Amino acid sequence: MKAALLYEGKAKKVYQSSEDEHQLVLSYKNDATAFNGEKKSQFEGKGRLNNEISSLIFQRLHEAGISTHFIKRLDSTQQIVQKTSIIPLEVVIRNLATGSITKRLGIKEKVSFTPPLLELFYKDDALGDPLINDEHALLLTDITETELAEIKDKAKEVNAALQEIFQSIGIKLVDFKLEFGRNKDGEILLSDEVSPDTCRLWDIETNEKLDKDVFRQGTGDLITVYQEILNRLEVHV
Ligand code: TMP
Repeated sequence: MKAALLYEGKAKKVYQSSEDEHQLVLSYKNDATAFNGEKKSQFEGKGRLNNEISSLIFQRLHEAGISTHFIKRLDSTQQIVQKTSIIPLEVVIRNLATGSITKRLGIKEKVSFTPPLLELFYKDDALGDPLINDEHALLLTDITETELAEIKDKAKEVNAALQEIFQSIGIKLVDFKLEFGRNKDGEILLSDEVSPDTCRLWDIETNEKLDKDVFRQGTGDLITVYQEILNRLEVHV
């Protein structure tokens, strides 16, 4: 199924598929990192949980009519996706204020954003993924103005679909990060992963954090909360 290792990131390895030159195998690792890799740990079972959670979410997004790179889950820690060339932007959507925006702009915790707030970061570890504006995005990547508008529209559609998915399992979608890539036909597809590593997810009733913030802030057990997300998604599907 796998041929050459093409790339190793902080949370996944990316392999060429041996069966189709236009497909990749994403292999989810047990590693967790925060603060641009400064804090690191390993959690037995994290790779399986994120692979299963992200697979279920991408399936639900497909059902909602959103085009993504996801093809199918291969086994417990791996999935097959369309090969895309990743556009080096991290597209963040915020429904409620928390995290970096509260520190950067002095906005109070839990202020709600209506409409949702979209931010762009330049995906570059050496620079610490800085916040950028549209003009920077056009300068630093090869996307056109039309494609940037398309990416923003898609991110907002994903937000609406994800809010519905999480609401139905008793979870508030506070904020999340998306990445997009271009496939062989030049189509822009939602790529990477959607998981508790890349979303802030709070229990609707208790505001309990069910995402990577428990690791970032050292306030809870990562595996317990990721398992809780998977359990709720599985019951609902
Ligand atoms: P932030 O508040 O730290 O800017 O994070 C916003 C959202 O983006 C949050 O859901 C976590 C997610 N995120 C990533 O997926 N990767 C990252 O490297 C960072 C900094 C945030």
